[in-house]
Amino acid sequence: MSQDVLLGLDVGTTGVKAVALSPDGRVLASASEEYALSIPQPGWAEQDPEDWWRAAKACLKRLPEGPIGLSGQMHGLVVLDAEDRVLRPAILWNDQRTGAECAEIEARVGLERLIELTGNRALTGFTAPKLLWLRRHEPDTYARIKHVLLPKDYVRLRLTGEHAIDAADASGTLLFDVAGRRWSDEVCAALDVPLEWLPPAHESTEIAGAGDQAAAALGVGIVSPGPVSVVLGTSGVVFAVLPSYTPDAQARVHVFCHAVPGTWHAMGVMLSAAGSLAWLRRVVGADYAVLDEEAARWAPGTEGLLFAPYLAGERTPHADPDARGAFTGLSLRHDRGALARATLEGVAYGLRDSLELLRELGVRPEVGRASGGGATSELWLRIVASVLALPLERAESEEGSAFGAALLAGVRAGVFRDAADAVARCVRVRDRVEPDPDWSVAYERGYERYQLLYPTLRQLPT
Ligand code: XUL
Repeated sequence: MSQDVLLGLDVGTTGVKAVALSPDGRVLASASEEYALSIPQPGWAEQDPEDWWRAAKACLKRLPEGPIGLSGQMHGLVVLDAEDRVLRPAILWNDQRTGAECAEIEARVGLERLIELTGNRALTGFTAPKLLWLRRHEPDTYARIKHVLLPKDYVRLRLTGEHAIDAADASGTLLFDVAGRRWSDEVCAALDVPLEWLPPAHESTEIAGAGDQAAAALGVGIVSPGPVSVVLGTSGVVFAVLPSYTPDAQARVHVFCHAVPGTWHAMGVMLSAAGSLAWLRRVVGADYAVLDEEAARWAPGTEGLLFAPYLAGERTPHADPDARGAFTGLSLRHDRGALARATLEGVAYGLRDSLELLRELGVRPEVGRASGGGATSELWLRIVASVLALPLERAESEEGSAFGAALLAGVRAGVFRDAADAVARCVRVRDRVEPDPDWSVAYERGYERYQLLYPTLRQLPT
């Protein structure tokens, strides 16, 4: 197969995005295909794995051929029978149905031991609690399970017939020994989950695949401690490479394997970042460009209007499946642009929550690298940079995850020596958005108010 083209395919929440790169990191072509998200009950989120495969095939048809790397939404549960047939719709990373199963997991393994082994506490979006939910609520389906895969690995199965996963994505299952970079016999035994269901786990560079956050970080050049990755995708993420495996004692941020062999990372994840803006766009019926332009007319702080971005519950820092969104401080002066501005600001404050937790772990970034759909907005980046008090750089390609996946394809194919070589040859910074000092002052005050929002809202009876 020609190695003049490297393909990266990201199986996201809103669709598949694919890029074709030259071996020096130029984007030769790209393609994308959207699909639907199903919300069968409040707080649930599902997708049909066949939709991912259809979208992946359609994207690949439009691109030149080459080695393929995969990235994708993390934590989703795909269950297959002995003939690799999908048994039910996939349950996604932002699905919140598993509160009871999370409590069960922490009781069975012991919270301290769970954090020691997996770098995390049991969170509703992770894969293991979904398996326990199926065992309790859909025993007939559970009885037929022979294979468990994550979303992008289902696409790999359809592409190549291979069952496989990478250490980065496996870290988000809660069944992985994150320090040892292998499935955890101890956790699987405690939860009664057969190890035979789980695919062989490899390093990302061996299998050309990674969970979307590790792939996004690689795609913006983050292979070692230094800059943080700031992602404005459906979810919002602040991600830092750690010098070693050092989980936070209370697991307030996730600690997972990175896509670079022998390295780990910590990250905070908010469930609705660009997802909040997508919601607003749908509700008010305006294009992103219009919302951006109208939001820019408002001064920082939006005259006291605050947005709580907990539309799908929250993960970091509140780990609360029942948290819900809110606008507070509305006045007669506020218009559609004000709602948009407050949404951009609320998401930025949420990212600040994650950055503060990373700082407590000793992370001292001097710059962030931004990617994800929201990073196309100059205004949003200036707001986030000012709230975080951190300059944000954008790489030439904003499609961090698909770009990172293509780099992994190149390492696996021998085009690059390793991940660091791939980054050195392919990732170039295009521009840099500085924090605005006046905005930072206004946002310090805004962040203080924002921090009061969740505890205040939580007191409301449902
Ligand atoms: C990461 C996470 C999300 C998904 C969606 O922990 O849940 O970022 O990967 O893209």
